[in-house]
Amino acid sequence: MLPVIAGNITLKLGRTRMKVVFDTDPGIDDAMALLYLHACPSLQLLGITTVLGNASIDQCTINACVLCDRFGIDSPVYRGAGAALDGTVGDYPDFVHGTNGLGDVPLDPPRTQPGDRPASQYLCEIAREHPGEITVLAVGRLTNLALAIEQDDSFARNIAGLVIMGGAVEEPGNVTEWAEANIIGDPEAASIVFRSGIPVTLVGLDVTIKTRLSPAYLTELTAPLGELGQFLQDINRCYASYNLERYGSPAFPVHDSSAVGCADQPGLFHMKRGTLSCVLDGEQRGRTLFTEGDGPHKVCTRVNSGALLNRYREVVLAHYSA
Ligand code: BDR
Ligand code: CA
Repeated sequence: MLPVIAGNITLKLGRTRMKVVFDTDPGIDDAMALLYLHACPSLQLLGITTVLGNASIDQCTINACVLCDRFGIDSPVYRGAGAALDGTVGDYPDFVHGTNGLGDVPLDPPRTQPGDRPASQYLCEIAREHPGEITVLAVGRLTNLALAIEQDDSFARNIAGLVIMGGAVEEPGNVTEWAEANIIGDPEAASIVFRSGIPVTLVGLDVTIKTRLSPAYLTELTAPLGELGQFLQDINRCYASYNLERYGSPAFPVHDSSAVGCADQPGLFHMKRGTLSCVLDGEQRGRTLFTEGDGPHKVCTRVNSGALLNRYREVVLAHYSA
């Protein structure tokens, strides 16, 4: 097959790009993931849907629009759920992401504006328009996806699959001993998604805490990127200091970008097949359980962290420093 050069990235002729919708609660690591996704030659970003999580739905939607301006993204943004399915909102993790979700870096009013329909409606429509072709990269709670499944019988059939940053199968949780933030944010939604039959690849804490972004790596990544690089440094400061305080190291886990990495370079991950479920009651509420065997789900259990970080830097620098 003939290679062609696009930017500094070599593509194989004939390889089609995976059509992707990014479901997100930006969020510092969500921002880093969107940076990679937009630049990634194997992925085609069709739209962005927002959900509450790292901040309120108002703030997460503003942040998604601000990031589109900053990163030169013209894909549409749709505002999603402002509460979990059970109506709860809960506390926002301002101690991790700052009160504005992006490290309390001052943000210009966005030029990008959200679209005129709710995220779940957009998800149903785009899946119907491209049956069997859309993968949703979900890096926040799963509320929008659960709503889409409940609102339209054909959604679960039309969607090609989900790559989810969430959960923890072998590792402990990061909110409770059992539960990870995106899943405990809306366990009922996770349960609906896992029972829908949609093929899921779970990129959980089992792999995301194994890949660490160090200050030296961040400097190398951002130095050639001028004003954009400064913005990335500024938003990540908050994340690094939280990590230093809680875990004794400024090198922080690469959560949401690992899900993008899994869609882009699945060969860097070791996966097990089986069936996922979510605990809804008791002290283990929000825990993801996995039974190995035949089933519609895959769980990432190991990752080649060095190769993933190299790939991230290669893709981002090829696109944004050109
Ligand atoms: C997940 O929770 C959020 O705070 C992050 O953006 C990530 O999606 C990690 O548990
Ligand atoms: Ca997130």
